[in-house]
Amino acid sequence: MEKCIIVAIADNLAIGKNNALLWHISADMKFFRATTTGSPVIMGRKTYESIGRPLPKRLNIVVSRTMEAPEGIVVVDGLEKAFEVAEQSGAEKCFVMGGGQIYRQALEIVDTLIVTHVHLDIPDADTFFPEIDKSVWEASESTESQYDEESGCYFEFVKYIRK
Ligand SMILES: NC(=O)c1ccc[n+]([C@@H]2O[C@H](COP(=O)([O-])OP(=O)(O)OC[C@H]3O[C@@H](n4cnc5c(N)ncnc54)[C@H](OP(=O)(O)O)[C@@H]3O)[C@@H](O)[C@H]2O)c1
Repeated sequence: MEKCIIVAIADNLAIGKNNALLWHISADMKFFRATTTGSPVIMGRKTYESIGRPLPKRLNIVVSRTMEAPEGIVVVDGLEKAFEVAEQSGAEKCFVMGGGQIYRQALEIVDTLIVTHVHLDIPDADTFFPEIDKSVWEASESTESQYDEESGCYFEFVKYIRK
């Protein structure tokens, strides 16, 4: 099973503030949905709470030491267990979808990073992605930059594979 991170990252590595996303880019939401639908998704308890419901057509796995499993969610108490549950489902791929704490741990393990680079600087964010170390990660595919009218920024999709 291929283990992937999927994340949208600002130029200053910001990914969230006050347990919410920092932008609304509908093309990115669409890309996220198209990429992850049909596969297990793994998220931290805070990210799950920020969404507030299971994502449809995906096995939803939440990593938490405190949460009781609501309907439609599998709760596990560690990232390794989350990957085991995903693997046991027979999936070919799974996606770690945040947030900051879970990304930091998953970055040591995953094979692939699927990154939306959002060309904004958000210094007052409270959650950041680690630096993508180019001695470890190689960009294997990328799209042209696109402009999003609503958020007034450029963004592109880049896939990184572990060297
Ligand atoms: N830009 C993006 O692509 C993107 C994507 C997703 C999320 N985000 C943003 O990221 C922010 C949330 O990130 P966050 O770092 O605050 O929280 P998080 O990673 O979503 O969740 C943290 C929680 O996960 C659980 N956890 C973490 N490591 C664990 C482990 N090893 N074993 C068991 N449980 C573990 C703990 O839950 P318990 O306390 O219940 O034990 C912890 O409080 C929000 O602002 C969100 O909008 C951004």
